[in-house]
Amino acid sequence: MKPYSMQTEPFSNREGVLHAEEIPLPRLYRAVGPCYVYSRAALDRRVDAVLGSFGHRAQLIAYAVKANTNAHLLRHFQERGLGAEVVSATEIREAMRAGFAGVRMVCNGNGKSLEDLRAAIAADAAWINLDGAWELPRLEAEAARADCVFHVLLRVNPDLDASTHPYISTGLKTSKFGMDFEEAHRVVGDAHHYPHLRLEGLHVHLGSQIHEPGPIREAFTRVRDFGLSLEGPGFHFAALNLGGGFGVDYRGEIGDLDLESLAASLEDPGFWKGRTWILEPGRYLVADGGILLGEVLGVKRSHGRRFVICELGMNDLIRPALYEAYHSISPVSPREGAASPADVVGPICESGDFLAQDRELGPVEAGDLLAVRHAGAYGSAMASNYNGRLRLPEVWVEGDRAFITRRRETPEDLERLEGFEEVSW
Ligand code: LLP
Repeated sequence: MKPYSMQTEPFSNREGVLHAEEIPLPRLYRAVGPCYVYSRAALDRRVDAVLGSFGHRAQLIAYAVKANTNAHLLRHFQERGLGAEVVSATEIREAMRAGFAGVRMVCNGNGKSLEDLRAAIAADAAWINLDGAWELPRLEAEAARADCVFHVLLRVNPDLDASTHPYISTGLKTSKFGMDFEEAHRVVGDAHHYPHLRLEGLHVHLGSQIHEPGPIREAFTRVRDFGLSLEGPGFHFAALNLGGGFGVDYRGEIGDLDLESLAASLEDPGFWKGRTWILEPGRYLVADGGILLGEVLGVKRSHGRRFVICELGMNDLIRPALYEAYHSISPVSPREGAASPADVVGPICESGDFLAQDRELGPVEAGDLLAVRHAGAYGSAMASNYNGRLRLPEVWVEGDRAFITRRRETPEDLERLEGFEEVSW
């Protein structure tokens, strides 16, 4: 066993076989079967990149837990000094189990339940966002009940186009998130009715997959100026949360969002002095740290199309079906021969069950293994049991060692929830 080295190549082809760090993937597959594979080296590189560009600028870099809630990964990120951005009582619980302290926690959500609010109070979360005026009485009542105060950031919607997929765009006026400036203004005017709420800053998150600093910079200036104009009784501009959304290049064509230029574009020492700068990256930290590994069940041709039928389905990675997202797919042990178009599909009874369509792929046969890249973000986190499929195990690779951090689900896991208990109403 070799000591772990941060220099390890996360996923590399060695002598014709794809490896996760030091481990040949066919060996891992034989031991575990289909699974998500996370490379510690890849994850650490991303943490290094974010901390390198923002560690000395932003006071709180809160990892968006929704991107990947793997408990070991959370603990690792916590130990690396990140905070946690959470959107539900369960995410709060998971963050707490991973050791994240309340002072490093940001609670968001556009429809926080009372359970969520109580969990935020129990965790003593540093910040909570307010998505609209309607939440004011709810937050006030819960804080009063617990005899504490909420430090509130108003989530504003600047109606700014981040040029990303409509489903992952959140800063447009058509989006359900946040409030317009007029509403934020009214909220501040009403603040005196809510003695258990301290309105202490603003929150803006434009959406996901932003590839240029421009839109984030534009959101920053608009929201900064708006926040400064709000300062006064009822609003103390102590913190600004600029969200996440740092773009990742799934196709290997344009590169990831350049964090250094983003950081430079957000420089404003006069403004940031004495204020807390919060960021919430999710995908950027985890996407390329994970692959989805599975076997080809068979290949068929129909109407001249090549269908590669794979044991992995949309329930394991819903992004292609939901957003027509591109994920690079490669055979783990490529065969000799020319590439040709193929649809890589899963076994689920839905035509939308594909991992790739019309994709140039080398020759593959039943029993070959495929690696789906960038499955670290919104992969396992969005998995479901549709068609009776059991969620896949998650494997953490560190050098030449692999650890099952979440075992494969069993039918018994699902049956545990069933019953026929009479409701007393
Ligand atoms: N902060 C807030 C308030 C968010 O809503 C999100 C993501 C993030 C931070 C993190 O965004 P990121 O850095 O990961 O882009 N399931 C979609 C992405 C949905 C993102 C939801 N909110 C996908 O697979 O592309």
